[in-house]
Amino acid sequence: MAKIVILTGAGISAESGLKTFRDDGGLWEGHRVEDVATPEAFGRNASLVHQFYNQRRRDLAEVAPNAAHRALGALMASSLHEVTIVTQNVDDLHERGGCPSVWHMHGQLLKKRCEWCGAVSDCSEDLSQDDRCSECEQTGGMRPDIVWFGEMPYFLEKIDGVLSDCDLFVAIGTSGAVYPAGNFVNLARLSGARTLELNLVRTDNSGNFDEVREGPASVKVGEWVEEILAD
Ligand code: APR
Repeated sequence: MAKIVILTGAGISAESGLKTFRDDGGLWEGHRVEDVATPEAFGRNASLVHQFYNQRRRDLAEVAPNAAHRALGALMASSLHEVTIVTQNVDDLHERGGCPSVWHMHGQLLKKRCEWCGAVSDCSEDLSQDDRCSECEQTGGMRPDIVWFGEMPYFLEKIDGVLSDCDLFVAIGTSGAVYPAGNFVNLARLSGARTLELNLVRTDNSGNFDEVREGPASVKVGEWVEEILAD
């Protein structure tokens, strides 16, 4: 039984119809990240930030997991290996693709958090500044439970733990441009793991991997999972 850590990024959800971050002239769904994905943006214009994430949440209801998500679901279901999936994605396509446990290091669109008391709960509807927290009953503090630029990603200690003790690290559909996730490959290598990158094209991070396979995630992930299951 091998210990496998998989890091996924926006590229794994691209073929489901969700846009990636850095392939479109630096804009994300027409916005600069500083205007919608920072605590300062929320302080300045909460209504724009809510509108932006409300639209992302609605988009999520229109898409479905693709073959790559399902292949990872099959890998987990096989229980042949000890698999940890860490994702930078805030969508729920891994879960819908059959992965029961996923570490969302950048949070989740389908969760909301109260800035006042920190309570986190499910969120399938639009959010606004008028929403009241069901725990502390204050208004004005409800926000998507998303890790914005300048905030600390979730699960970092646990991720460090699995990276320091894994046999194989696989990065799927991520540019590696955002830290700390972009550095996970180096941490895994330090612990002696083999490293594999699956991406549509080579990235600025490709040189840090033992092996790079180029092609769409819907094809490359399935091929790799078949190999691993046949091993
Ligand atoms: N199959 C495989 N890879 C793909 C596909 C595909 N069909 N389509 C695109 N890609 C690759 C691109 O080549 C690119 O390397 O997915 C990657 C997407 O990179 P980014 O847009 O930078 O997304 P990601 O790496 O997830 O970004 C990390 O940045 O803005 C933040 O918080 C946000 O979680 C996000 C983080």
